[in-house]
Amino acid sequence: MSRVVVTGRIPEAAIEKLRAEHDVDAWSGPESIGREELLRRVAGADAIVSLLTERVDAELLDAAGPQLKVVANVAVGYDNIDVSACTARGVVATNTPGVLTDATADIAFGLILMATRRLGEGERLIRSGEAWKWGMFFLLGSSLQGKTLGVVGMGGIGQATARRAKAFGMEIVYQSRSEIDPTITAELNARRVDLDELLAVSDVVSLHCPYGPATHHLIGAEQLAAMKSSAFLVNTARGPIVDEDALATALRDRTIAGAGLDVYEQEPRVHPGLLELDNVALLPHLGSATVETRTAMAMLAADNALAVLSGEQPPAPIA
Ligand code: DGY
Repeated sequence: MSRVVVTGRIPEAAIEKLRAEHDVDAWSGPESIGREELLRRVAGADAIVSLLTERVDAELLDAAGPQLKVVANVAVGYDNIDVSACTARGVVATNTPGVLTDATADIAFGLILMATRRLGEGERLIRSGEAWKWGMFFLLGSSLQGKTLGVVGMGGIGQATARRAKAFGMEIVYQSRSEIDPTITAELNARRVDLDELLAVSDVVSLHCPYGPATHHLIGAEQLAAMKSSAFLVNTARGPIVDEDALATALRDRTIAGAGLDVYEQEPRVHPGLLELDNVALLPHLGSATVETRTAMAMLAADNALAVLSGEQPPAPIA
């Protein structure tokens, strides 16, 4: 039996799957596990099943010890994991791609609708008890039909968002580091462009690229200034891809029309400049938050950990 440490609460089905074969120590406190407690608990672990709220770095890997074989992140994003530190210690790092694609694209599209149709503003108005009545010019938003969606990062979630946009009658342009299967781009009638062109032509820019040094503040003051003044920015990827100071300024000065955010530079903190603006829809990192999706993520993370512990190739290694 190996020792598996789970760093936070995950669906019970995944815990049971791990427990059927191994000794599992799962943090079940209402709050996130504190760093000291985490460093103490991982000592002697053969596998760590980690949540994106926990930093898996050299200090944590060393606290676990040389027997550690796998870090299985319960997320597709793995910016919380120092993958080179894992590789240097012979530890396999894994993530959960695929299973949260539709849930996250749903939230991206939800934010597109919230921002362009001013849904949050309408809801806040009703709840405020303020008087309102139907009017020709009351809370007017922007239509999506015939407009252009610019997808930054055309992986699975970007493609799924583009598919939804196409169903809403939008045109698609995308920016991608890698070649996308031509049957997919043909189905979406999507045109590959560079970031400059994407920013210039898009009515909605939706971010779906991974976060890392290459994408830190990919969208800053200069990029926001390159967008149309009628355009919207949506981020369901990772907060630090956007310079929030610059975004708050652009939204306040209306150099772009609006934004929809599910992720933040320093979660759970939200930039105070954003909180006071009506033209930004704000969600608390809900991209994958459905019962079905979170269960699938946890089960895939468990399968990843179990495979490595049995000396097999895991289903989703981080390349
Ligand atoms: C992920 O898996 O990276 C998501 O951000 C979790 O919601």
